[in-house]
Amino acid sequence: MVLLSVAFFADTPDELRQETDALQSAAANFNCRFTEMRFQQENCFNTAMPYGLRRVESSHMMLTRSVTALVPFVAQEVQSPQGIFYGRNAITGNLIVGDRTKLINGNAMVIATSGSGKSMSVKMEIIMEFLRWPNARFILVDPENEYELLVKALGGEAIKVSVDSRTHFNPLDYHYDPKTDVPPDVAKIEFVLSMLDKLIGENGHLLPEDRSLIAASLKNIYKPLIASGYTAPCPTLGDLYRDLNKSNLRRAKQLALMLDVFTNGSLQAFSHTTNVDMNNRLICFNIQSLGDQLRPIAMMSLLEFINMQVMTNRRKDATAATWIYFDEIHVLLKDPMSSNFLYSSWKRFRKYNAYATGISQDIQDYLDNPVAYALLSNSEFVIMLRQSKSLEALERLYGLSKPQLEFLRNASEGRGIIKMGNSMIPFSNLEPKDTAVYKLITTKPGEATAEK
Ligand SMILES: Nc1ncnc2c1ncn2[C@@H]1O[C@H](COP(=O)(O)OP(=O)(O)OP(=O)(O)O)[C@@H](O)[C@H]1O
Ligand SMILES: [Mg+2]
Repeated sequence: MVLLSVAFFADTPDELRQETDALQSAAANFNCRFTEMRFQQENCFNTAMPYGLRRVESSHMMLTRSVTALVPFVAQEVQSPQGIFYGRNAITGNLIVGDRTKLINGNAMVIATSGSGKSMSVKMEIIMEFLRWPNARFILVDPENEYELLVKALGGEAIKVSVDSRTHFNPLDYHYDPKTDVPPDVAKIEFVLSMLDKLIGENGHLLPEDRSLIAASLKNIYKPLIASGYTAPCPTLGDLYRDLNKSNLRRAKQLALMLDVFTNGSLQAFSHTTNVDMNNRLICFNIQSLGDQLRPIAMMSLLEFINMQVMTNRRKDATAATWIYFDEIHVLLKDPMSSNFLYSSWKRFRKYNAYATGISQDIQDYLDNPVAYALLSNSEFVIMLRQSKSLEALERLYGLSKPQLEFLRNASEGRGIIKMGNSMIPFSNLEPKDTAVYKLITTKPGEATAEK
């Protein structure tokens, strides 16, 4: 039942009559008729005021569809119970409280021009999700070395991946899982063969006999770990080198020689036992100084680590999610291996209780690249901040209206549009500059905590 009451005022009875006539005829144009509330002005006034009282006992039946025509605002709100804060709705001023874990898939993309607040918004999300889910794990891939301060402040582990790094993680690390009971040489064989394909294979492929030799060596080097009941340190690539080298077969020695540079030579960064806490629930890989020679082994080890974490984490505790963030994701999209990994991650992670986030500058890259396009179309959560040139692409992709596009064109730092499932919400999320959090997450030169 609906009652529409209108209160209006005039300075003289004549003016009031004129206003009333004007209103009556305007309503008549829409086939509506207003009734004057003679001798009931006070009741009508109280009914029209926004304090929820109905003093006029007259109402009509209307269908929901017709009632929507009476609502003058087109604003959407997202307030998911248990969600986290993503800013204030730029139209209504209400809080936006979203929960990525409740969407069809929790993958996210953050897109905007440089300096508009992509990394800031992601860092704020990381802080909140980190505190929100004490069992969840977080893995960050940081190509610009800008997450370390935040990671250290949260008690996480920052690992520099480069030829001269002092932080090491061993790609042959294996964690025994009694539920699956797969021996380490079986669990690791596929990864090791693909890695060696890249490192020492001719045209990217090992010969069939090489594979057998490597498989046999892999079995040998994991024997002490199995014999110790999984308490001894895991073998390294150096152990694989030594096992191949001590064989009497000429080909095994040749393979060892090819591996030499990665185990004893200048590219031995991945041939050490792990000296960082890989069980820490927040791990950040800084790949800023990764050179071309080390890139294949580094990327494969890193992606293998992420994959293992996602799988084992789900097995350990179904309620503890894995959150993975790839900043400057276009760096990874350039390389076929990591781009394949991202493609399958965005499609599979949902089933493993994992949430992937990609951050990138230019959306045009996405439309031209099929993998990148698949990432966008498999992301139910998208944060769009200031855009200068990719507006037509966004219009095509998400059907943004002209005012929404204009809002993005003129958006200042920390303002933009969030797409959560089917909702599109303009938002503003400014972190005050004088807070400790701001100093941990800013990328403006001279503003960060350590630089003071
Ligand atoms: N939400 C925000 N609140 C307050 N300041 C912000 C916000 N977002 C961005 N800024 C300001 O803008 C600067 C740049 O932000 P940010 O590092 O997130 O940019 P970006 O989009 O990741 O850029 P790039 O693509 O170059 O990495 C920050 O250091 C901060 O000073
Ligand atoms: Mg950034």
